[in-house]
Amino acid sequence: MLRETEDELGKAHDELELRVRERTAELLETNKALEFVITKREAEIRRINRMYAVLSVTNHAIVRTNDRDTLFSNICRGTVEHGGFKMVWIGLIDDESGMVKPVCWHGANNGYLDDIRISVRKEPEGMGPTGSAIRNGSYYICNDFIHDPRTLLWHEQGRERGFHSSASIALTVNNKVIGALTIYSDEPNYFCTQMIELLKQMALDISFALDNLGHAVRYRDAERALHAETSERLRLVEALHKKEQQFMHQSRHAAMGEMIGNIAHQWRQPLNTLALIIQSFQFTCEEGRFCKENLDENVTVSMELIEYMSRTIGDFTSFFRPDKEKSSFNVHQEISKTLTLTEVIFNEYRINIEVNHTGESVTFGHPNEYAQALLNILVNAKDAFSSRKTGSPKVKINLFTEEGKSVVTITDNAGGIPEEIIDKIFDPYFTTKGPDKGTGVGLYMSKIIIENNMGGTLSARNIDNGAEFRIEV
Ligand SMILES: Nc1ncnc2c1ncn2[C@@H]1O[C@H](COP(=O)(O)OP(=O)(O)OP(=O)(O)O)[C@@H](O)[C@H]1O
Ligand SMILES: [Mg+2]
Repeated sequence: MLRETEDELGKAHDELELRVRERTAELLETNKALEFVITKREAEIRRINRMYAVLSVTNHAIVRTNDRDTLFSNICRGTVEHGGFKMVWIGLIDDESGMVKPVCWHGANNGYLDDIRISVRKEPEGMGPTGSAIRNGSYYICNDFIHDPRTLLWHEQGRERGFHSSASIALTVNNKVIGALTIYSDEPNYFCTQMIELLKQMALDISFALDNLGHAVRYRDAERALHAETSERLRLVEALHKKEQQFMHQSRHAAMGEMIGNIAHQWRQPLNTLALIIQSFQFTCEEGRFCKENLDENVTVSMELIEYMSRTIGDFTSFFRPDKEKSSFNVHQEISKTLTLTEVIFNEYRINIEVNHTGESVTFGHPNEYAQALLNILVNAKDAFSSRKTGSPKVKINLFTEEGKSVVTITDNAGGIPEEIIDKIFDPYFTTKGPDKGTGVGLYMSKIIIENNMGGTLSARNIDNGAEFRIEV
């Protein structure tokens, strides 16, 4: 009985021992498997951590860079150094050739990119990771670079440089694919799902930065263009201002020439009379008729004549003195002043002048310049009468107020302005007179005076049998 019990116990013990051995072996296996999994996970975590570091470097570069080349170069260097990759490069599409041109790289290039031919089309050169990522506008992972049939063209070169996995991800600007970023690792199966997510994030960040760089460049360009345009405008305004002053000068000179002619006319008569008076002294003396009364009488007449001549000069100089400040002035007075100065010439041409004046005619501006505009118009009428040999030349000046403005119309009966030139008569240098007769600045200057300097309007139209100029201020 005891013997039996002993045997049973021994058996049970053996069984137990076997079970323990079996369990221990099982546990060892599980342990090994677990260790393998843990090592794999650890490696994966390391890679992911590195990829996070790459993302951080990328964002750092984005924030601190404002030109594309520096951004690309910082990203390529940062990705190799912090991600532990063999090489990284960025290629951009050359629209004309449809090929991808490397613009930046870092790592074990060693001539790999020198003659690389990668296209965006569906052809052997476009079937690798970069071409595929660009064509699809997303990414392409190749976890066995030196065996994958799609990378056949680059197997040898890749093997020499230790490229075992590669990932390409498309870069965009304003939602348009412009190229790709391609990364090589020396480990096969390097790019897991989580890595791909991080790569996608990286491409999004770069594309966002490129969009903003584009905006900044456009903004800078627009700003530069605006600056250039403003300077050009300022220059033009200055040139225009200079030109205007030149015109003003020229027009004043032309008018002065006209007025010197007038003065010569106005002086001829009194000068002749003065000459006669002086000669009369000789006669009366020779004939013994010279006496005090005769002398006094002749001196008085002479003094009046001299006074008249002096006044003419006074009128002339004040007429040509430019007005510095704007002031209120009486339009009727300016018309009278201008007519006094043209009187002699108009009489010589037997031009009949009629002035009709209704209402108050005070306005604000530059009176002398206003008178010059009037003078230009009157001289033009005289020229028209003389060239067309008008039978009974007549100028009618009407002065009235309309809607609070003083209006002057100057009408002649010289036949009017030919319709084909009526739109041009206010242009600078437009003249139908011979080169020694007209410069073509008279009406241009008159328009500048009335419209730019005084805020009024000057226009011309044809009426019945002549031209009508209308000044509103
Ligand atoms: N009253 C008018 N009747 C017909 N044509 C006129 C009359 N006034 C001006 N014109 C036309 O307008 C043109 C331009 O006149 P504007 O006074 O600007 O220049 P101009 O008289 O030719 O030369 P400038 O006045 O510089 O000596 C004249 O050449 C002429 O053909
Ligand atoms: Mg003229």
